[in-house]
Amino acid sequence: MNIVFLGPPGAGKGTHAQRLMKELGIPQISTGDMFRRAIREQTPTGLDAKRYIDKGELVPDEVVVAMVKERLAEPDCQHGYILDGFPRTVAQAEALDQIAHIDVALNIDTPDDIIIDRLSGRRVCAECGGTYHTSLLKEDKCPACGGAVYQRDDDKPETVTNRLAVYQEKTAPLIDYYQKKGILSTADCRGTIEENYRAVKAALEAKKQ
Ligand code: AP5
Repeated sequence: MNIVFLGPPGAGKGTHAQRLMKELGIPQISTGDMFRRAIREQTPTGLDAKRYIDKGELVPDEVVVAMVKERLAEPDCQHGYILDGFPRTVAQAEALDQIAHIDVALNIDTPDDIIIDRLSGRRVCAECGGTYHTSLLKEDKCPACGGAVYQRDDDKPETVTNRLAVYQEKTAPLIDYYQKKGILSTADCRGTIEENYRAVKAALEAKKQ
């Protein structure tokens, strides 16, 4: 099954995609994670992307599309995948339609006030990439692997505000785009992580039938 996770920054796309990936045995492809890795490794793509990410802007479509195209050609994607954070513009969605068949676009619906709380409290494990909210962490260590956790640079309040504005302008139109294709399913994700994961699974099941 080829799945697109749609939703504003901090909606929980990464949190649910990591869990679903293990359950379904298909890879999670997070363009945000790919860029953060490229930045750490100081590749030309990473250095270029950093200029946009630090301001909460989108990386240009042609850069993201080329990166995703290459990734989807890898053998582990041949039996399905979860696209987390891609597409983010109508141009990206149209490019994706040229290279893949998407079965479900899952919209992780979350209001802005909840998002701001989640992003300001988000911590990421430097070792395994797991994401946690500070309210659920007992110490500054990853509960899964013991690695050190850190706050993402783009989770600063002024950058978050711009990311939300960019989402409304550039990414929210994709809800309509996938609705018109008949493959949109929406999960109401204003509850706990567990409740939201159940909503995500139910929204996926609804589209399978
Ligand atoms: P990316 O990494 O994709 O960021 P994003 O879409 O803004 O999404 P996030 O990772 O911030 O949020 P999420 O929905 O995954 O939430 P999470 O599960 O972590 O992209 C970063 C940047 O890269 C972009 O701004 C852009 O510049 C660039 N980029 C990436 N893709 C691009 C593309 N296609 N085109 C152009 N540019 C691109 O959850 C958030 C927090 O909330 C966590 O702490 C989690 O533990 C917590 N949480 C989740 N659910 C709950 C809950 N129910 N209760 C309490 N806490 C919760």
